[in-house]
Amino acid sequence: MGRITIAIDGYSSTGKSTVAKQLADYLGYVYVDSGAMYRAVTLYAMQQGIISKAHFDTSKLIASLPEIHLKFYKEPSWNKAHIFLNGKDVEDKIRNLEVSEFVSPVATIHEVRAKLVAQQKQMGLEKGVVMDGRDIGTVVFPKAELKIFMNASAEERAQRRYKELLERGEQIKFSEVLKNIQARDHIDTTRDDSPLVKAADAIDIDNSEMNLEDQFHTVLQLAKDRIAGRV
Ligand code: DC
Repeated sequence: MGRITIAIDGYSSTGKSTVAKQLADYLGYVYVDSGAMYRAVTLYAMQQGIISKAHFDTSKLIASLPEIHLKFYKEPSWNKAHIFLNGKDVEDKIRNLEVSEFVSPVATIHEVRAKLVAQQKQMGLEKGVVMDGRDIGTVVFPKAELKIFMNASAEERAQRRYKELLERGEQIKFSEVLKNIQARDHIDTTRDDSPLVKAADAIDIDNSEMNLEDQFHTVLQLAKDRIAGRV
């Protein structure tokens, strides 16, 4: 068997992107962070005043979708591809808590999902791709040869995220981070369109107690087996 498609889904801050990226680098595959696409659409909505704490004009966002162009691009010196929103590199702008708060409601909108899923399917046409997100194994690549579903306790995920945000210099309380994770879990799992669910044929990995190295080796072994057609 040649190149395969690998779908990695799971709750927020389970370390999906870390393992997806490691795997793609090791196998020489393309890594696609589908969450970055939802975040970039959210940033657009914030910049245009379509979403704020006070209101969310969903029809305006839907009407603006043809004006939103997303692209991934990687310079050889960069560690990962950056996401570009209408030609601008917004990689640095999409990870803060404000975008994280607004992104789940944006991701509930059917028209937003339809647009992004169509682009994601295109990116997978040639296989050799590792994509992480919430609906990759269920909606984007239902035929992926390897599907992983990652999980860890909400407290553990909030700890990791809190540490990351502090390191980036954000002034934040742990309780706020935990609240955001729990709120996102709730919206992601209960929305009507493509809620976060484990695909029937996905392999569960709970990494609450795993270090990065163990996790990588576990997933790599699964990938090698699938590529060799062993399982
Ligand atoms: O993986 P992340 O935390 O960067 O994702 C941000 C949000 O985008 C998350 O709250 C849910 C949404 N998302 C989605 O609905 N479907 C995807 N394939 C990826 C992300």
